[in-house]
Amino acid sequence: MTATPDEANRTAETTAPYGSAPPRRRVRVHHLQELKERGEAWPMLTSYDMYSARIFDQAGIPVLLVGDSAANNVYGYDSSLPVTVDELLPLVRAVSRSAEHALVVADLPFGSYQASPEQALETAVRFMKDGAHAVKLEGGRRYAAHVEALVAAGIPVMGHIGFTPQSEHGLGGYRVQARGEQGEELVADALALQEAGAFSVVLEMVSGQAAKRVTSELRIPTIGIGAGPDCDAQVLVWTDMAGMNTGRTARFVKRYADLGGMLSEAASNFAADVRGGSFPAPEHSFD
Ligand code: KIV
Repeated sequence: MTATPDEANRTAETTAPYGSAPPRRRVRVHHLQELKERGEAWPMLTSYDMYSARIFDQAGIPVLLVGDSAANNVYGYDSSLPVTVDELLPLVRAVSRSAEHALVVADLPFGSYQASPEQALETAVRFMKDGAHAVKLEGGRRYAAHVEALVAAGIPVMGHIGFTPQSEHGLGGYRVQARGEQGEELVADALALQEAGAFSVVLEMVSGQAAKRVTSELRIPTIGIGAGPDCDAQVLVWTDMAGMNTGRTARFVKRYADLGGMLSEAASNFAADVRGGSFPAPEHSFD
């Protein structure tokens, strides 16, 4: 039996964002929910600029995160704490102008939402006006009221718990979270975010067992980074994933390319050609 045009459109709309072919329509929160219900894993990458956004979008990555990791990956800070809303807004504009299909999520940076639900709403509205389709914020139960305020204003919210770089500096430190008894805390945080209306939750550097439990208890998708294979989705920082960052990376990072090495080689070859006089050649010059 052949599908009617309407049925075919509906099928394309629900399946397109996740296959190898680029999607035809903008990915929406409900698509991600449907994926969880179908048990299909999906990928998410950070993006901070036009080229990476366009390339990842065309590669079929359904969600792009303009993370506060731009602090280290764009601005040269040594942690995510100093980056500001004013520094992230132009990156959100660039990514959302360049990604035709992906859902673009803007990270609320340190100090831009913690004070109150009102502050969170004011900051989130700035990101949404500049092209974000959703925002992400770090923190569990303590920020449930903040999440509720955003959701009530129609802003889709992605939570982020486990290792939360904005609040762990000098406190818990960089280590695996939710081992043993602490797993209960993680579940309680995740449930509070879901109850507050979050559409998904990032689980960063938590024990695989705890991530598996949270993923099975939540109705909404979990997105793991260093949280094992049982999350509904996986996210990586693109500069780690593609080897732009040539320094040490966390154990949970898999390098899929050596872009840092390739760029370094290209720059060295260009420099050698200029110094040796072989560039520009006649074909690069005008009479
Ligand atoms: O800012 C970021 O890149 C993130 C990811 C690690 C999830 O929050």
